[in-house]
Amino acid sequence: MAANIAGIEADCGGLLTCATCHVYVREPHAAQLPPPDGDERGMLEFTAAPCRPGSRLSCQIQLTDALDGLTVDLPPNQH
Ligand code: FES
Repeated sequence: MAANIAGIEADCGGLLTCATCHVYVREPHAAQLPPPDGDERGMLEFTAAPCRPGSRLSCQIQLTDALDGLTVDLPPNQH
């Protein structure tokens, strides 16, 4: 949450109440992530930019060694 990556606002600090941490996860890593749970799926309906394949709320991604090299694209806006 404190990485200060330009384009990832993360206004709620990871509490899953803002959807301003929306990212597009690139393959092959998108397919390796566990599917979003119901709460994340619900908040993905409130992203400022349209969702597309690979859309995730970055605050919910549990980083592991297997995800080394994970790359995301940022949406054009978070608000
Ligand atoms: S930081 Fe708010 S939902 Fe991810």
